[in-house]
Amino acid sequence: MAWVYIEDLGRHLGEEVTLRGWLYNRRSSGKVHFLLVRDGTGVCQCVAGINDLGAEAFAAADHLGQETSLAVTGVVREDKRAPGGRELTVKRIEVIAPASDYPITPKEHGVAFLLDQRHLWIRSSRQHAILRVRSEVESACRDFFAERGFVLFDAPILTPTSCEGTTNLFEIDYFGERKAYLTQSGQLYAEAGALAFGKVYCFGPTFRAEKSKTRRHLTEFWMVEPEVAYFNLDDDMQLAEDFVAYIVARVLERRREELKTLERDLAPLERAAQKPYARITYDEAIERLRAKGLEVKWGDDFGGDEETALSSEFATPLLVHRYPAACKPFYMKRDPARPELALCVDVLAPEGYGEIIGGGQREDDYQTLRARIVEQRLPLESFEWYLDLRRYGSVPHAGFGMGIERAVSWLCGIHHVREAVPFPRMMERLEP
Ligand code: 4AD
Ligand code: MG
Repeated sequence: MAWVYIEDLGRHLGEEVTLRGWLYNRRSSGKVHFLLVRDGTGVCQCVAGINDLGAEAFAAADHLGQETSLAVTGVVREDKRAPGGRELTVKRIEVIAPASDYPITPKEHGVAFLLDQRHLWIRSSRQHAILRVRSEVESACRDFFAERGFVLFDAPILTPTSCEGTTNLFEIDYFGERKAYLTQSGQLYAEAGALAFGKVYCFGPTFRAEKSKTRRHLTEFWMVEPEVAYFNLDDDMQLAEDFVAYIVARVLERRREELKTLERDLAPLERAAQKPYARITYDEAIERLRAKGLEVKWGDDFGGDEETALSSEFATPLLVHRYPAACKPFYMKRDPARPELALCVDVLAPEGYGEIIGGGQREDDYQTLRARIVEQRLPLESFEWYLDLRRYGSVPHAGFGMGIERAVSWLCGIHHVREAVPFPRMMERLEP
């Protein structure tokens, strides 16, 4: 008896196989049960007739609850009408563990309820599709950098300092002796890595104690952050563009079924798989926003509304570069041509999704960086190691960070980032 995954059924037409999975749904028509069985790789319609099963087993099958785990043995047949194009003519059903009163039924449920049931909700076809896209995006990130010779350089999660500003730090009591913080970004450590290995990336969870309840904010999210020695802002923008286009193309190539399940419009993704992307400066962005009637002050960072307005003007992702330095973190290098600007870039996803990437060139001059740390009243002692990177063989370098959940939300066309991670962490949610 050959155990086969549903996604591989096409290679077993006419053979007798066993599926191991869970009962997703079922209906009956007198002498035939149609059992929809899922095994994580797909859903297969299993047709169980009274003559094949025998009266007793047939009657038992009529009482199987949703999400009962079972092994179903039968012959694989091609059937264009069945989901996936294949079905199983059942010979035998073995119940592994029964389930009754499964809380998530095919009827509509509220989001709060579903989030409480997240451990089960991930079995539903939509959530399942989103998380498979996420898995593909993460593999694509790793492949992109591996193909280009980047070293995976894991950054610590417990840190002594802030990186992206002190207002949204999670503080931890470290053995009753001192304070530690959950990392906001692996960047500072990736910079050390870049000066050791030339090109590196870190990829891990990051934390922001942000009191924002928008559809784009999580308190824990995953970020992939490349950092490259001898890169300037232009090099960095090119890398970001190549990276995003690569990921989009990969998802289109390998996760079409999932995008179909999500009823994702593929046209904007097809365009985003094509380079080049549009690029504008912050100054130009301000002009465009004002022309649209938005009241924006030069010097302010953009929020969701501004980003949505800007990105809706372009068919591809949009790179906005050279923001006012005052609204950006201490480590950003200033534009020598206009020192009030930072050599930074944000990548805004189209269709109103807004920022998915933030990055830029880093301040590489020892005196300038030190002065900035002092100016921003950051604890100098904690940054001595970071300043060492400018003391010993400093070079121009740049990098960026992409939030996985933001990217996945856009690719999947979903409204809220909370569905783009298995177990979302938000201000008002820590469970399950
Ligand atoms: O723009 P951010 O804050 O940049 C950094 O952290 C840099 N140190 C990265 C670097 O240059 N290595 O964050 C980068 C990305 C954002 O563009 C967004 O996609 C995501 O991280 N992000 C969040 N995602 C979900 N919830 C939040 N609260 C997020 N904050 C940032
Ligand atoms: Mg940002």
